[in-house]
Amino acid sequence: MIHLGVNIDHVATIRQARKGDEPDPVHAAVFCELAGADGITVHVREDRRHIQDRDLRLLRQTIRGVLNLELAPREAGGVVELALEVGPDQVCLVPEHRAEVTTEGGLAVSPDDSRLRTTIDRLKARGCLISLFIEPDPVTVAASAAVGADAIELHTGTWANAWAACRGRAGDPRLVREQQRLRDAAHEAGARGLRLHAGHGINYANVRDLLDLPLLRELNIGHSIVSRAVLVGMERAVREMKELL
Ligand code: PXP
Repeated sequence: MIHLGVNIDHVATIRQARKGDEPDPVHAAVFCELAGADGITVHVREDRRHIQDRDLRLLRQTIRGVLNLELAPREAGGVVELALEVGPDQVCLVPEHRAEVTTEGGLAVSPDDSRLRTTIDRLKARGCLISLFIEPDPVTVAASAAVGADAIELHTGTWANAWAACRGRAGDPRLVREQQRLRDAAHEAGARGLRLHAGHGINYANVRDLLDLPLLRELNIGHSIVSRAVLVGMERAVREMKELL
């Protein structure tokens, strides 16, 4: 069974629209777990636009499944130190740009990036499993193994855009091309002994076309689940995604 990590950043986005105290992402996480989520994913950004330090601390004390923290290794907002204090089960290193609406593209990874390797080593020493959010490219997969990652999370944004452009029509060359990029990256991850995760732009319609990706262990899904939860409630939204997996 593929592990479902529910990204609850956008519950905090709604709260931050009024800078108040509702809806509380910690409450949302409890509903996600009751509905069968295997993990909870949050991104503490340098600008703290949605998830706050307080949320991460409370999630650490509250949730029973895997706590997966996304952070940018080169940010200046003290998030690496926060991770070392709180001790999430998993850290996913992502690129971060202030002006972006969501995480655009994967992390640039070079096999001799000693700064990145030091950050990975510090977080590993704290007991965190390290995943790198990267484009589906075998060279970047190999570089991720070289800097000491345990896992890679393939950025499925381009694949999801291709799926949307052809509405998932099997055999459409745009989709075939993106499926092949994911498969090549998955193959390289297997050869390098890396765990395989994927995320970004996955929804209730396109997810079925990811399920046969070789070695896939985990999907991290946020926007589509939170969007459905606004209409039908968090438990039902998570349960419906779990059924598709
Ligand atoms: N995985 C990573 C590393 C991400 O940065 C994001 C977006 O914050 C997601 C998964 C979830 O993407 P989406 O919200 O499009 O499901």
